[in-house]
Amino acid sequence: MLVTDRQRLREDIAVWVARFGARRSSLIPVLQEIQAKYHQISDHAMQVVADHLDIHPVEVYSVVTFYAFLNEGYHGKFVIRLCRTVSCDMAGKSRVARQLENDLGIAFGQSTKDGKFSLEWASCIGMCDQGPALLVNDQVFPAVTPEKVHDILQLCRKSFGPLAVHQANHREARQ
Ligand code: FES
Repeated sequence: MLVTDRQRLREDIAVWVARFGARRSSLIPVLQEIQAKYHQISDHAMQVVADHLDIHPVEVYSVVTFYAFLNEGYHGKFVIRLCRTVSCDMAGKSRVARQLENDLGIAFGQSTKDGKFSLEWASCIGMCDQGPALLVNDQVFPAVTPEKVHDILQLCRKSFGPLAVHQANHREARQ
């Protein structure tokens, strides 16, 4: 990371800490902001957050590695998380998974080279009666079939659009 990038990251974190408060309970909201803007939470970011909130960096690291929605490594703009818990598994998640991997040319745990898509597994996302279910960022898609995978990816590609706007609005509403 370049010095200017680090500087910008530090400034952003200072703004988010000021917004949420320099206390332990701000840890997850601040980490979510870092994730949303930088698509990853680097070691440096964890250190800066720890300094601001006056907590040990190991504690920040534990939170980042515990929550599936926070990531140390780079994540694409669209993170697709397919539920692999039992109901979705029985409803055909494997066929959906294969279609996603074929269409994107990556395996689960990877991101596309253009930085637009990441594939991740998720545990139950509360749509067990409508499986297989997946999330694209924070938007739920129930009853996904291999055919629907194509439509979902098209929706993302077309716009970087409806979903990106949805996310931006969501972030603005929280500000
Ligand atoms: S088992 Fe997949 S959403 Fe609950």
